[in-house]
Amino acid sequence: MAVPEKLRLAIIGCGRIARKHAEAITTLPEAELTAVCDIVPERAQAFASQYKAQPYEKYEELLQRQDIDIVTIATPSGLHAEIGIAAAQAGKHMLVEKPMAMTLKSADALIAACRQARVKLGVIHQNRYNRSIQLLRGALEQGRFGKLTHGQATVRWNRDDEYYRQAPWRGTKSQDGGVLMNQSIHNIDLLQWMFGPVASVFGYTETHLRRIEMEDVGVAVLRFQSGALGIIEAASTIYPRNIEETLNVFGESGSVMIGGIAVNRIETWEFPDAAAEKQRLFDSQENDPPDVYGFGHRRLFLDMIQAVKEDRDPAIPGEEGRKAVEIILAVYRCQESKQPVGFPFTE
Ligand SMILES: NC(=O)c1ccc[n+]([C@@H]2O[C@H](COP(=O)([O-])OP(=O)(O)OC[C@H]3O[C@@H](n4cnc5c(N)ncnc54)[C@H](O)[C@@H]3O)[C@@H](O)[C@H]2O)c1
Repeated sequence: MAVPEKLRLAIIGCGRIARKHAEAITTLPEAELTAVCDIVPERAQAFASQYKAQPYEKYEELLQRQDIDIVTIATPSGLHAEIGIAAAQAGKHMLVEKPMAMTLKSADALIAACRQARVKLGVIHQNRYNRSIQLLRGALEQGRFGKLTHGQATVRWNRDDEYYRQAPWRGTKSQDGGVLMNQSIHNIDLLQWMFGPVASVFGYTETHLRRIEMEDVGVAVLRFQSGALGIIEAASTIYPRNIEETLNVFGESGSVMIGGIAVNRIETWEFPDAAAEKQRLFDSQENDPPDVYGFGHRRLFLDMIQAVKEDRDPAIPGEEGRKAVEIILAVYRCQESKQPVGFPFTE
């Protein structure tokens, strides 16, 4: 079937992150925001009037519309897989917010449903599109690091009790997870994107300060199949505000440290031949984004639209989004068993 010039998108879940979806869609000439859905009718209504879209209270009704090409799923995380499977069965391509699912079983069911229905499944890890991260990935692909030795993904942010009280799903095991699954998953995704398949994980989690079911601090060490080592540090307890989201990659002939509030600023860029490019890189840095969601949504949405038009997988398909979920679930298992977990991890 011929793909129309302008694809019609719909947002399911009109909360905090949905604003970024709406901004991305309405600023892309290839896209149109056709419908929005929220179980709280006023939220759907508010989005609908601002963006001139049709409001829905039930996603099942929205999915019946034949004219919608892509849905974006921005509901509480525990609902992603269920809504995604319904969307696949309705023949919709989809972008699913992170984490794509709360269990590997539900992630696999979603991936299978999309492959079976021949619809595209993209997972929203927008930080992969940060300029700093694209440059780092380019350096890696060019082999500039030589043998990779180790890396580090650090999230030192603040989410106070008021944040967790905003919605009952926040900080729960079934719907959200703790700081690893919610706030740190992007950086864990980046770490594994740079270092490749994981061999084993050991970690601890604690709920120190926030009144939530899951962790507000988590730490883990990883051994990658390549032999390289990794460290994860995640905290939503940092006093008094968000301080940093940092990704470090070290190898025999390269050191790159990316910091800022949302892994957008190159702090260290060292390679034997880096002298000339260094100044240019530092001079053309992105500023810290206005919020920790960063600048990547628009580029990621554009990739999805192009993927549909070109009938190819999006840049971050379901199989790729599953990887960070697997690492985090393995850390949760370590916390229970006090034993390292070998990969592939099975629930
Ligand atoms: N990519 C990112 O950087 C980023 C940032 C924030 C949140 N997120 C993810 O986005 C998702 C939403 O987070 P949020 O902070 O926007 O949450 P939120 O609570 O602000 O919004 C969720 C919305 O979904 C609605 N909803 C709940 N059940 C629904 C259903 N069955 N059908 C339709 N709507 C329903 C709620 O009423 C609410 O308005 C989460 O999975 C979160 O992890 C991603």
